[in-house]
Amino acid sequence: ANEAYDYDVLVIGAGPGGYVAAIRAAQLGLKTACAEGRETLGGTCLNVGCIPSKAMLHASEYYEAAAGGAMEKMGIKVKPQLDLDTMHGQRKDAVKGLTGGIEFLFKKNKIDWLKGYAQFTSNDTVDVAGKAVRAKNIIIATGSSVTPLPGVEVDNAKGIIVDSTGALELAKVPAHMVVIGGGVIGLELGSVWRRLGAKVTCVEFLDQILPGMDGDVRKEANKIFKKQGIEFKLKTKVTSAEVKGKKAVLTLEPAAGGDAETLEADVVLVSIGRRPNTDGLALDKAGLELNKRGQIETDHDFRTAVDGIWAIGDVVPGPMLAHKAEDEGIACAENIAGQTGIVNHDVIPSVVYTWPEIAGVGLTEEAAKEKGEVKVGKFPMLANSRAKTNHEPDGFVKVIADAKTDRVLGVWCIASVAGTMIAQAAQAMEFGATSEDIAYTCHAHPTHSEAIKEAAMAVTGKPIHI
Ligand code: FAD
Ligand code: NAI
Repeated sequence: ANEAYDYDVLVIGAGPGGYVAAIRAAQLGLKTACAEGRETLGGTCLNVGCIPSKAMLHASEYYEAAAGGAMEKMGIKVKPQLDLDTMHGQRKDAVKGLTGGIEFLFKKNKIDWLKGYAQFTSNDTVDVAGKAVRAKNIIIATGSSVTPLPGVEVDNAKGIIVDSTGALELAKVPAHMVVIGGGVIGLELGSVWRRLGAKVTCVEFLDQILPGMDGDVRKEANKIFKKQGIEFKLKTKVTSAEVKGKKAVLTLEPAAGGDAETLEADVVLVSIGRRPNTDGLALDKAGLELNKRGQIETDHDFRTAVDGIWAIGDVVPGPMLAHKAEDEGIACAENIAGQTGIVNHDVIPSVVYTWPEIAGVGLTEEAAKEKGEVKVGKFPMLANSRAKTNHEPDGFVKVIADAKTDRVLGVWCIASVAGTMIAQAAQAMEFGATSEDIAYTCHAHPTHSEAIKEAAMAVTGKPIHI
C-alpha cells in the first residue's frame, strides 16, 4: 500500500456488495479492509434477508407438501407435526454456516475486518470504533433497511407489528397475519406463515401485486396466491395500526380515499419497501450528496462525485438485489485496480421464491412495447411434461422479442423452478440471442426448461406441444 494510506481499499459494509468487493480487491493484490458494525459478516442478505427467508420457505414448502395432501397424492402417507423451534434452528444454522464462511474467506484473502460502524471524517478517512483509518479508495456498500410506515410502529421484540426480520423469527404461527405491501417480502414471508397454518391478508396500495413485473405475470401470480388462500385487499392503504393486548387493530382506507374499515391481526408485517442506509456516515464530511431518493449516485464505473469514493449495492440506484450488489462489487474492485469492470444493468434477473417461483429478466411486455414493435411467445407449464408429471400445473413462460431483429428483450416465468430456469434466459440475452437461437438450442428432456424453448418457438408461432 501507499505509505500515506492504511489501505488501498476500505469497504464500508460487509453485505453481498461489500464483502464481494473486498474479496475481489484482495485477489487483485490490493491491501484491503472492510468495516462492518454487525456481529457477523454477510449483511442483510445472509443475516436477515435472502438466506434465512429461503431457509423458512424451503422448510415450510416441505411442511405444506405433507400437511396439504400433495405427498399423499403421490402415495406417501404422513401425519406431519410442526416443530417450529427446530425449523427456526435449521434457519439459524444456515445463517451461521454462511456468515462464518465469509469470515473464513476474509482470513484466506487477508482482508482486515474492522469491527464497527464507519463514519467519514474527510474524503479519504473514516472513523471506525474510535480509530482513524485512511484509504486511497473507499467503497460505500452500506445497503438498505426497512422503509417505515407512518402510524404503524414496528416492534420486533414484541412480535405483533414486525418487519421482515421479526417475521422470520415468530415464536408461533399467527392465527391471522396481515401483510402490508404485496411486494417480494410480503409474498415470500406471507407464504411461509400461510403454509404453516396462518390466515394471511395482504393489503396492497396499487391495483395489482408485484409492481415492476410483467403485467401477465402479476395477474397470474395474484390468481395463484388467491387459490392458495391469501386474501388480497388491492387499492387499499393502511392508515394506522394500534396494538391492543396481544392483537393489532389496523385502519384501512381505499387508496383513492373513502370510508375507513378496521381489521384485526395477530401479526402485522410491514413490507412496503427498503431505503438506502446513509444516516451516520457523515457524508457531508466527505463532500458527498444524496439524490432525491436518498441514494448515492455513481457513474457507470461506480465512481461517486468525489474522487476515490465509490458506491455499490442497495445504496445506489437500481434493483435492491444481492446478485446485483455482488456483480457491482466485483466490477468496482476491478475498476479500482485499473481493469474494466462492467455490469449490464439491462440483464439483471429477479426472482420471487414463492411456490411456484416467479422470475423475470429484461423488459416487461409493457415496457418493450413502449420502445417498439414486439413479438411474444407464451407456453403454459401445464403443457410441459416434467411440470405435469410433478403435479405442478400453474404458470407459464413468456418470451418477448423485437419484431424486426428477433432479439430477445425479456423472459418471464412462473414455474416451480423459475429461479433456476431464468439463468439460461439471462445468459442468452447477455450473448444477444434471438428467440430463434433459443428455439433451436437442444434442451434436455424432461425438464421445466423445455418450456423456455417452446415459448421461444411460440414467438414465431411454432411450439410443438400445444
Ligand atoms: P446489505 O446486505 O444491506 O449490507 C450492508 C451492510 O453494511 C450491513 O451489514 C450493515 O450492517 C453494514 N453497514 C451499514 N452502515 C455501515 C457503516 N456506517 N459502517 C459499517 N458497516 C455498515 N435479494 C436477492 O437477490 N435475493 C433474495 O432472495 C433476497 N431476499 C431478501 C429477503 C429479505 C427478507 C430482505 C430484507 C432482503 C432480501 N434481498 C434479496 C435483498 C438483499 O438482501 C439486498 O439486496 C442485499 O443484501 C444488498 O446488499 P448490500 O451489500 O448492498 O447491502
Ligand atoms: P417491494 O418494493 O418489493 O414491495 C413493496 C410493496 O408495497 C409494493 O407492492 C408497493 O406498492 C406496496 N406499498 C408501498 N406503500 C404501501 C402502503 N402504504 N400500503 C400498502 N402497500 C404499499 O418491497 P419489499 O417487499 O418490502 O422488499 C424490499 C426489497 O427487498 C425488494 O424491492 C427487493 O429488492 C428485496 N427483496 C428481494 C427478494 C428476492 O429477490 N427474492 C426477497 C425479498 C426482498
